Amino acid sequence: MKKEETASITGWVHRKRNMGGACFIIIRNGNMRRQIVLKRVSDDDKKFISDLSIESSVRVTGRVVEDKRAPGGSELHVDMGDVKVYQISHPITQLNPDSKQFNLFQNRHLVLRNDKLSSVMRLRSDLDDFIRFHMRQKGCVSVTPPTLTSQSVEGGATLFPLKFYDDTAYMTQSSQLYLESVIASLGAVYCIMPSYRAEKSTTPRHLSEFTHFEAEFPFIDLDDLIDIIEEIIMKIRMYIGSKSYDLSESFMAYDPSRKIDRMTYKEFIDAVNAMGLKNPMTKKKYMYGEDVTAAVERKFIDKYNKPLFVTRFPTSMKAFYMQPCDDNKDETESLDLLMPGVGEIVGGSMRIWDHDLLIDKMKEHGLSTDDYSWYIDQRKYGSVPHGGFGLGIERLIMWMTNQPHVKDCCLYPRYVGRLNP
Ligand code: 4AD
Repeated sequence: MKKEETASITGWVHRKRNMGGACFIIIRNGNMRRQIVLKRVSDDDKKFISDLSIESSVRVTGRVVEDKRAPGGSELHVDMGDVKVYQISHPITQLNPDSKQFNLFQNRHLVLRNDKLSSVMRLRSDLDDFIRFHMRQKGCVSVTPPTLTSQSVEGGATLFPLKFYDDTAYMTQSSQLYLESVIASLGAVYCIMPSYRAEKSTTPRHLSEFTHFEAEFPFIDLDDLIDIIEEIIMKIRMYIGSKSYDLSESFMAYDPSRKIDRMTYKEFIDAVNAMGLKNPMTKKKYMYGEDVTAAVERKFIDKYNKPLFVTRFPTSMKAFYMQPCDDNKDETESLDLLMPGVGEIVGGSMRIWDHDLLIDKMKEHGLSTDDYSWYIDQRKYGSVPHGGFGLGIERLIMWMTNQPHVKDCCLYPRYVGRLNP
């Protein structure tokens, strides 16, 4: 006779229902869900089960019985004596939308236990592993630049200052300058680090602290850079798309065997105008040189309904470090990658690698060359053409999972008015 298999699970009561004199409980342990069945329920048992509130922590041992209807194809048949309770959970009334205390972000530590968010966090972990695996395979070295800095990367307007002994420091907006500074030491490099932006905007795609996947490559040109980013997106689509996550239609509809469309900024402005979208500031068609705001960009890309690289932004709109195009100094060797449902998820460019040109651009932008002397030095000691990108992990996940906001794509979002939990 086949030996009966027994198994134990420790975890939290996730769901509970009574049916036909038996009680079915789903136990969640972070990795898996297991259905347990308590049969032959006496009156005392009924009281015990009724007290066993959702989120109570337990250890349960029982017989493994195959059942296609149960999650994972089997369930545990358990005698009441084999349920050890660690703690009966307080009722989670805060999560009841009718409760006065209802506030999803204040109760984030509890909300994170729900199916959707825990699945997004699991996907995030998988994505992080995969990016690191892919970058390693491509010969890129992972580095950990400081997040406390003394200068801006993306302009002073979004800097978070803090007291650093007797000085003022800033939370980094981007690790780019540090990545650039080590390509002569390590070759292609990348990091996945927090970046900070004091942006008071409450759009669905802005956080004050976000996770920034950035990379920097020596001896490449703009086309190489776009190909590198495209390959990363393609590989992520193939890898994550093959898993059983709840993925967005847009992510699944993107065909990784086809090239992502590319448009210059000039062509993009024409396409935005052709779609009938107006500049909200002037209430007129967009003119060359005007910045397409996040909301209009989002409307455009939602309607366009495919990923899109926009390249060659005007110099006047972009950061000091971007390399001007050889054939038109008023445009930069730059790119944004736009995704339906989100807008921009990647920003990147070739960097100015000529010493004197960099000094001129920094002066134009009112930056002190003394503060950036270590950055400028790279243009004196074997400078090379180089470029890189920054990808917002929360925005990528927003596209992949159709979450309504980047706040729903990280553990404890930080935004104007939210620093707790
Ligand atoms: O376009 P950004 O500002 O580019 C840089 O920071 C470059 N220095 C990166 C580089 O070349 N190494 O930001 C890059 C990406 C954006 O496309 C977006 O996905 C994300 O960072 N991002 C934000 N994500 C959430 N909240 C914010 N406030 C963000 N700001 C930028």
